[in-house]
Amino acid sequence: MASPIPITKAVIPVAGLGTRFLPATKAMPKEMLPVVDKPAIQYVVEEAVDAGLTDVLMVTGRNKNALENHFDRAGELEAVLTSKGDDEKLRKVDYSTHLADVHYVRQGDPKGLGHAVLRSKMHVGREPFAVLLGDDIIDSRDPLLSRMLEVQTALNTTVVALLEVDPAQTHLYGIATVEGTDQEDVVRITGLVEKPSPGTSPSNYAVIGRYVLRPEIFEILERTPPGKGGEIQLTDALQELATGPVWGGGVHGVVFRGRRYDTGDRLDYLKAIVQLASDRDDLGPEFRPWLKSFADSLGGGGDEGWQGGEDG
Ligand code: G1P
Repeated sequence: MASPIPITKAVIPVAGLGTRFLPATKAMPKEMLPVVDKPAIQYVVEEAVDAGLTDVLMVTGRNKNALENHFDRAGELEAVLTSKGDDEKLRKVDYSTHLADVHYVRQGDPKGLGHAVLRSKMHVGREPFAVLLGDDIIDSRDPLLSRMLEVQTALNTTVVALLEVDPAQTHLYGIATVEGTDQEDVVRITGLVEKPSPGTSPSNYAVIGRYVLRPEIFEILERTPPGKGGEIQLTDALQELATGPVWGGGVHGVVFRGRRYDTGDRLDYLKAIVQLASDRDDLGPEFRPWLKSFADSLGGGGDEGWQGGEDG
């Protein structure tokens, strides 16, 4: 049965304190940290817009004014650039102003991702909608969200993005138990667990920060008790959908094999910047040779044993 309602809404939780990036995030939201020359949040909004979602709801918290300003007019700056005739920079300033129809709701208490999604209930109403987490940047050459929307429309279930990760990383993610379907990149999810302790993970299929949810999720979230870390976990509500009665339609996963950049901790953030800068037409030709010679200058001094991911 095809979903009768076209999906237009994207929810982006941005209320986190960004403590891994202190002191940079003392007075600035972590979502505004530049990835090369663009704030991380803009990549995520661009991804939603590229997939056809132009109604964006950000679930914000305190100290997030810079985010709102970024997606609004910047009159003084525009006036200066206009008077200088600097059309190229003016275009960059103007672009994020008109990128999407951006709305805001405050989360108040930071009670977890499930709670943040629940705050979108009034805005979303009774429609399927997408959730995008700002720590993950998906390369625009490897569209993931549009594929998830396609799968959601075809199956009318809840759809999450999955990535096969190194088993040493499973404790950092929601992890899915899966079974195959007749489509190579689609699996049916039979169970979900939030951040299993090392050595206890049921698989290495990690939920990355893209979800296409059906509105039933709100009723489940309203009664989902605090889980891992004392927070209301979206994973726990999805586990109920995946294993509960079929009225919610079950949960499917789209297995992503494209380029993803994690900006959630400092080391991954550095890697994301290097990778994206290397690929840029304007910076790459000068940056790549420099990077090669810099890497050569390091010799064999790398620490091969690093497994990635900062906890906390
Ligand atoms: C959240 C979710 C987790 C998911 C992850 C993806 O965790 O709770 O299930 O795998 O995002 O990035 P967080 O990284 O916010 O701690």
